[in-house]
Amino acid sequence: MDKYMPIGNKFPRILHGGDYNPEQWLETPKIIDEDFRLMKLAHCNAMTVGIFSWMALEPEEGKYNFGWMDDIMDRFAQKGMAAILATPSGAKPSWFSQKYPEILRTQADRLKDLHGGRHNHCFTSPIYRKKVSQINRMLAERYGKHPALILWHISNEYSGECHCPLCQDEFRSFLRNKYDNDLDRLNHEWWTGFWAHRYTDWSQIESPSPRGEHETHGLILDWKRFVSHQTIDFFRNEIKPLRELTPDIPVTTNLMGTFPGIEYRELAKELDVVSWDNYPTWHTTEQPDWKIGVRTSFVHDLNRSLKQGKPFMMMESTPSTVNWQKVNKLKRPGMHLLSSLQAVAHGSDTVQYFQWRKSRGSFEKFHGAVVDHAGHENTRVFRDVAQVGQALEKLDEVVGTTVHPQVAIIFDWENRWAIEEAQALARDRIKYEETCISHYTAFWMQGVTVDIIGAREDFSQYKLVIAPMLYMTHPGVGQRIESFVREGGTFVTSYWSGIVNENDLCHLGGFPGPLRGVTGVWSEEIDTLHPDENNNLIMNDNSLGLFGTYRVQDFCDLIHAESAQVLAVYGDDFYQGRPALTVNRFGKGNAYYMAARTGADFLDNFYNALMEKLLLTRTIKAKLPRGVTAQHRTDGQNRYIFIMNFNAKKEEISLDGIYTDMLTGEDRQGILELNPYDVKVLKENK
Ligand code: GLA
Ligand code: ZN
Repeated sequence: MDKYMPIGNKFPRILHGGDYNPEQWLETPKIIDEDFRLMKLAHCNAMTVGIFSWMALEPEEGKYNFGWMDDIMDRFAQKGMAAILATPSGAKPSWFSQKYPEILRTQADRLKDLHGGRHNHCFTSPIYRKKVSQINRMLAERYGKHPALILWHISNEYSGECHCPLCQDEFRSFLRNKYDNDLDRLNHEWWTGFWAHRYTDWSQIESPSPRGEHETHGLILDWKRFVSHQTIDFFRNEIKPLRELTPDIPVTTNLMGTFPGIEYRELAKELDVVSWDNYPTWHTTEQPDWKIGVRTSFVHDLNRSLKQGKPFMMMESTPSTVNWQKVNKLKRPGMHLLSSLQAVAHGSDTVQYFQWRKSRGSFEKFHGAVVDHAGHENTRVFRDVAQVGQALEKLDEVVGTTVHPQVAIIFDWENRWAIEEAQALARDRIKYEETCISHYTAFWMQGVTVDIIGAREDFSQYKLVIAPMLYMTHPGVGQRIESFVREGGTFVTSYWSGIVNENDLCHLGGFPGPLRGVTGVWSEEIDTLHPDENNNLIMNDNSLGLFGTYRVQDFCDLIHAESAQVLAVYGDDFYQGRPALTVNRFGKGNAYYMAARTGADFLDNFYNALMEKLLLTRTIKAKLPRGVTAQHRTDGQNRYIFIMNFNAKKEEISLDGIYTDMLTGEDRQGILELNPYDVKVLKENK
């Protein structure tokens, strides 16, 4: 059997619980007693404490108060629950900002922040780093051997940037290091001959600012890299005492999905387990729930892929509503169980919430929670949570299992930074993330599992690698794609790929630069359509069995097929008849080039044809209605299949074998009926 260890080694269960803030209720100990009674009733087994507790732990500089935390930790142990202990750096005490103003952030316009809010300290400040390290050390000394402790939750949702003089200095050192102290090289890579922007001394370089330099793409890109690097460096500083004192306790920090500010693939290397906070906008009138389901699945898959298939944690989700969306809608009946098990389906070994209990005052008092202001268990939301807890208790054997997809979609942070900054085409319609998700949708609908990887990762385990809009190609990426295809892999890329190198300098000699050999096309120019314009893609005779005409929009690449075979041509405009879709035989494999942005109809048909041609494995053979997906996890022997209906209406599928329903214990075969927002977990009977 091939399984990962459970997140908490002593705790081989799917974790269920969430952010718990007893420090807000220290004046009413009865409420804390109630919490522990209710946690059992809600089938919660793991709570996160201490996230914003710095003020409660150190009310004055050097004066500590751990008594309340001791009590909470001991109660977890007595109740057989696991504790996830947070480091408190996500919100700084007021005495700290007052005494050491250097910890306050400076914004890009060079204005210094006042004290307040959270997630807003300088990542460079030596005194902040020192004090964070001190308090983390004290937590590790005090609770490192506590029987309840299973995991460190480092800070909370790292984000943002600081432009203070300390950060400027660090930025310049980062650049000196990157460019080997060679200012000429930096000038070359940033192309500073443009607009007389050449630097003659390192001290002239400053972070981008709306009041200053904000158009030199090389600078912007390196600044983004620096912010990410500095945040990760701050993280390393945070975990140093923990690694030293508690080497067996894993660490994580909660990520925010596709948050652009930090190169999560780099940060993930420092984590023992990936965790993320999941807040989909279910039940909008703008798009059907299943589309939000697709997006959410994509992000779960991304998080699983950050550590090459290792189970991750859904660290936060709401049991009912949030308080910060445009419309804070309640989850409809069924959606809580469905969206919780959706995380598990894609590789999460936890269902955790923000938050356990609604706070009485301040900013998040109306954010959904397991326990409402009413204070008891007789609520719809509490019952929904308890139902999830009971379901998870039946899934112990799923813990540590994974999936081995044959398909990978490249969704790359640095590519995104560069492509979103480029002054070209129609900037508001680049939509890199949405484009990647549109390619993913076809696989989700067929129940074909997918990894979401970076451009610099290993491709060899996949049959099909898809790189929509791979604008930036790092050194070696072109060769690695070539060898993947040469060895028999199938590669798909699109318009606006192979345009710049890793420092945002255009590839000379013809686009798609390093992808030109493998795709066998030369892109001479690219046309941008107005939002209300379209062109057509007309299929030629082709080996994929595709025919007919498809509408295309936004971007039309005018390519020449060099060695590639033309599968479709444009139907309109002065480039009518020129190639719009090509395939290039390269070694034992094939590389497809989509010259235009197509709609979902084309992507569906195109990828369905590829799925058949490449004999890709579907989770189950049954035909899935639109809005229903099937995903699975495996330990190498057993398969755990999650069938999820994201539609608000009944659906049915016809099963291809006999399965055990893990939530009810019944056998399932023939027609499987799915209620609105239903989810079934089936174990394959061998
Ligand atoms: C984030 C934070 C939480 C809370 C929730 C509200 O994920 O980490 O502290 O503010 O948002 O949705
Ligand atoms: Zn700073």
